[in-house]
Amino acid sequence: MILVTGGAGFIGGNFVLDWLAEHGEPVVNLDKLTYAGNLNTLAAVQSDTRHHFVRGDIGDPALVAQLLAEYQPRAVLNFAAESHVDRSIHGPGEFIQTNVVGTFNLLEAVRGYWHELPAGRKAAFRFLHVSTDEVYGTLSAGDPPFAETNRYEPNSPYSASKAASDHLVRAWHHTYGLPVLTTNCSNNYGPYHFPEKLIPLVILNALTGKPLPVYGDGQQIRDWLYVKDHCSAIRRVLEAGRVGQTYNVGGWNEKANLDVVQTICGLLDELKPRDDGQLYRTQITFVTDRPGHDRRYAIDARKLEQELGWKPAETFESGIRKTVQWYLDNQPWVQNVVNGAYREWTDKQYPLQHA
Ligand code: NAD
Ligand code: DAU
Repeated sequence: MILVTGGAGFIGGNFVLDWLAEHGEPVVNLDKLTYAGNLNTLAAVQSDTRHHFVRGDIGDPALVAQLLAEYQPRAVLNFAAESHVDRSIHGPGEFIQTNVVGTFNLLEAVRGYWHELPAGRKAAFRFLHVSTDEVYGTLSAGDPPFAETNRYEPNSPYSASKAASDHLVRAWHHTYGLPVLTTNCSNNYGPYHFPEKLIPLVILNALTGKPLPVYGDGQQIRDWLYVKDHCSAIRRVLEAGRVGQTYNVGGWNEKANLDVVQTICGLLDELKPRDDGQLYRTQITFVTDRPGHDRRYAIDARKLEQELGWKPAETFESGIRKTVQWYLDNQPWVQNVVNGAYREWTDKQYPLQHA
């Protein structure tokens, strides 16, 4: 049994689906179901007896302690976070609450549980913290990609809150001996991605005839990784990562934002041409830049490859085609997000639990 937090979100949801499909070990899924949590993502495992969903907060130590005592997991994987940079600029409070205070409370509850485990299970236990490349700050054009040894230089409220959580995780290992692993991944894309982020937003806006907003000059660079590859990396780190180590995860896929948007437009022109015969790229609109916008991220994933033999399965070209096709094929999931129906259902079905 493993305990996953944030498993109704984009990456956590993909992780739970892939875990149950490929691994089979039961999962307790603790998710607060904020606006970013969507149980429709988990529809395929709704009646799977190996999946135990609990609506609750990682910052509720009594609830977490109760779940740990009840399910006795061999590992806790922490995906739960506020994750959107633009939201962190408009309202940083929730980011501090969940990403910093929430991670602290989670660590404390896990430490209490882990401390009482018998020796064998104690040694085998893992706390895997899912983090981001944004903690390293920004790169200039000629800089080498981020290695695990880079200094932390976070620039947004989001990345600062994730950096703080990484530091807490590190300290709980050094001070208390908690067997932790941390992964720092680059930008993910793929199925079930909430359409506030660049790639799903552009796909949906294109299909509904809306402007495709490109911040600033569109020459900011991100290093894109297909979400299923991130999930396979996490499984591998959980399986064989060295306790106390951090692993950078990336797909060697640096792309300028404008190129990403134009690629999506080209795929839609091929797969679902506009009724009026125009090209989707005519919808591209340059808008005001994000404050403090990091110019370039790039990940050096050699440690993960050399130590643990992990490699991504998708190139950007294969992954982005799959992604565009997924959004075309999964309109019910998309429409439930767009019209907000997923929230109404969530609130009716799952009141927030406390211990
Ligand atoms: P997401 O916003 O799609 O999902 C976050 C999930 O966490 C949601 O289901 C939400 O309901 C849940 N959640 C939020 N606050 C909670 C709380 N207090 N208690 C319990 N559950 C809570 O995020 P994502 O894109 O899936 O990212 C998952 C993790 O991966 C985050 O830690 C993020 O920082 C990290 N990450 C994301 C990316 C990316 O490109 N999306 C890249 C690298 C790392
Ligand atoms: O690098 C990993 C990070 O990637 C994760 O830690 C974050 O959780 C995740 O949200 C993502 O952050 P970004 O800010 O890079 O992702 P986003 O999709 O918001 O933006 C990608 C780039 O596109 C960024 O340079 C801003 C730009 N952008 C974004 C939006 C939403 C636009 O130009 N237009 C847009 O409308």
